[in-house]
Amino acid sequence: MSRKKQTLGEFIIENQTSFKYTSGELSRLINSIRLAAKVVNHEVNKAGLVDIIGAAGDTNIQGEDQQKLDVYANEKFIQTLTKRNIVCGIASEEEDDFIAINSQDENNQNKYIVLIDPLDGSSNIDVNVSVGTIFSIYRRVTPIGTPVTLEDFLQKGSEQVAAGYIVYGTSTMIVYTTGDGVNGFTLNPAIGTFYLSHPDMQFPVDGKIYSVNEGNYVHFPQGVKNYIKYCQMEEGDRPYTSRYIGSLVSDFHRNMIKGGIYMYPKSSKNSEGKLRLLYECNPMAFLAEQANGKASDGFTRIMEIKPTELHQRVPFLCGSKNMVEKAEEFMQNA
Ligand code: AHG
Ligand code: MN
Ligand code: MN
Repeated sequence: MSRKKQTLGEFIIENQTSFKYTSGELSRLINSIRLAAKVVNHEVNKAGLVDIIGAAGDTNIQGEDQQKLDVYANEKFIQTLTKRNIVCGIASEEEDDFIAINSQDENNQNKYIVLIDPLDGSSNIDVNVSVGTIFSIYRRVTPIGTPVTLEDFLQKGSEQVAAGYIVYGTSTMIVYTTGDGVNGFTLNPAIGTFYLSHPDMQFPVDGKIYSVNEGNYVHFPQGVKNYIKYCQMEEGDRPYTSRYIGSLVSDFHRNMIKGGIYMYPKSSKNSEGKLRLLYECNPMAFLAEQANGKASDGFTRIMEIKPTELHQRVPFLCGSKNMVEKAEEFMQNA
């Protein structure tokens, strides 16, 4: 018997009461992200047609060229969350500092802050390969009605209230968690509605895919080199398959469905790795754990790391539990 597919809007309403400390505010917040996602999706799909691709000319705080679509996605998410007066603070990969919203208004009773990577995998835009958006949501720690401070943003990943990503791929999906499992919704572009297509997503405990930029091999720590050699060895169900898109969102999404590990280790070129703790690693770690997977820097659980800076980088291993544990074993014994 076929059942009518639940829409994201219906799902949010039905699950609202299961959120801890619910007031409808988190539901409104996720609704706004859904809206911004549709707008950005529309633009991503036009990227091949109009002159929106290519570097916008600016360089962000990480010293990277910004693609025009990065700037666009950044503006859309910030505008949507600001104009609808949903949050009290936002931090973004594309902004040097955090943004305090309506900080002079004592009536601003909003208690959530959002950290965002508006366009992940931006080097893939001009070659028609999947990109994404990553978001992470916390409750502020400073008093409601006062301007947010850096302290509100530098919380451990374990304090996240919700996290998720949007993947603009062969179809566009929102995948998110509010701490009660992971659910995926696919956009029907004809009518602009997301439907629950992937309920209760789980990483297979074992996997056969490893995702790492092997071009950096010579610069990796010995433990990582040893683990990569282990993946390539002919024994049991190995050698594993290597798959690396260069977009964390897409690599993670595939590995969650098929079973695999994503790695961005530190190297002799990047002593802290490349990925950002607050708006790349923590949200993905929350999703991974909620989907029965694991995320660490090789030694410590990602969500236990106490952040010291907004744009902090960390080495990142994430995916199927047994694979992450095996990689950790190699790193810890090297
Ligand atoms: P962003 O496009 O937001 O800067 O993130 C890109 C990240 C991540 O998504 C991807 O897996 C990784 O950088 C790719 O880096 P390399 O090109 O160094 O492999
Ligand atoms: Mn990114
Ligand atoms: Mn980005």
